[in-house]
Amino acid sequence: MTGVGCVIPAAGKGERLGGPVSKALRDLGGAPLLEHAVRAIAACRAVTHIVVAAPEHLLEEFSSAIAGLDTVADLHVTAGGASRTSSVRLGLAALPAGIDTVLVHDAARPLVPPEVVESVVAALMSGAQAVVPVTRVVDTIKQIDAAGRVVSTLDRSALRSVQTPQGFRRDVLTEALLRARGERTDDAAHVEAIGVPVLVVPGHEDALKITRPIDLLTAEALLRRRMAARVN
Ligand code: CTP
Ligand code: MG
Repeated sequence: MTGVGCVIPAAGKGERLGGPVSKALRDLGGAPLLEHAVRAIAACRAVTHIVVAAPEHLLEEFSSAIAGLDTVADLHVTAGGASRTSSVRLGLAALPAGIDTVLVHDAARPLVPPEVVESVVAALMSGAQAVVPVTRVVDTIKQIDAAGRVVSTLDRSALRSVQTPQGFRRDVLTEALLRARGERTDDAAHVEAIGVPVLVVPGHEDALKITRPIDLLTAEALLRRRMAARVN
């Protein structure tokens, strides 16, 4: 393994969160979500290059949001696309040629703990082609039909919620995205579709995705708890 790169898709509109500001630039405890996410990834020493896929019309704002960060990793901002998959594709293409292992991490997951990032990288270093961090599902999940009737109740013990960073051999992810038809909500789904096994490692509840306003409230509380733990 010659180096680990990370693509941070951050070009979404944040429609479910709402508000006038791009979601990745929304404040969480005095810093934009994007800054938290970049810091969390850069804390992993194996990561040498980070590419942020930003909305095309906000490249300067996104660059200045992370300009002051003191990281060993090389930071780069590039234009994302109209879908998450296209943003990841564009970010991946902007990583230098020497990078053969990649992480993809949502800007919308600002508080991912270092041990989750390290577990994903460690699994890649041990030879996994694709790795996702997961947590257990707390709700009972039912499948419904178009008429709103329950079709079946899924076996919760076999279900997992999937987080980021997800890790991949670069050639595997590149091929999966090249062959991808249509949009999927995570990167591993494209890799599964080409028949490559995907390993799971433990995720963490702090790695929640900021999707709705309530998620921002939860993240603020988690951040306050972290700050308090540092002071005491
Ligand atoms: N993303 C991206 N490019 C897109 C769409 C999404 O880079 N065209 C990124 C988002 O910025 C986010 C991550 O993918 O960091 C996960 O997506 P999501 O949580 O759905 O964010 P948004 O698409 O911004 O939110 P919404 O779906 O509510 O509009
Ligand atoms: Mg979205």
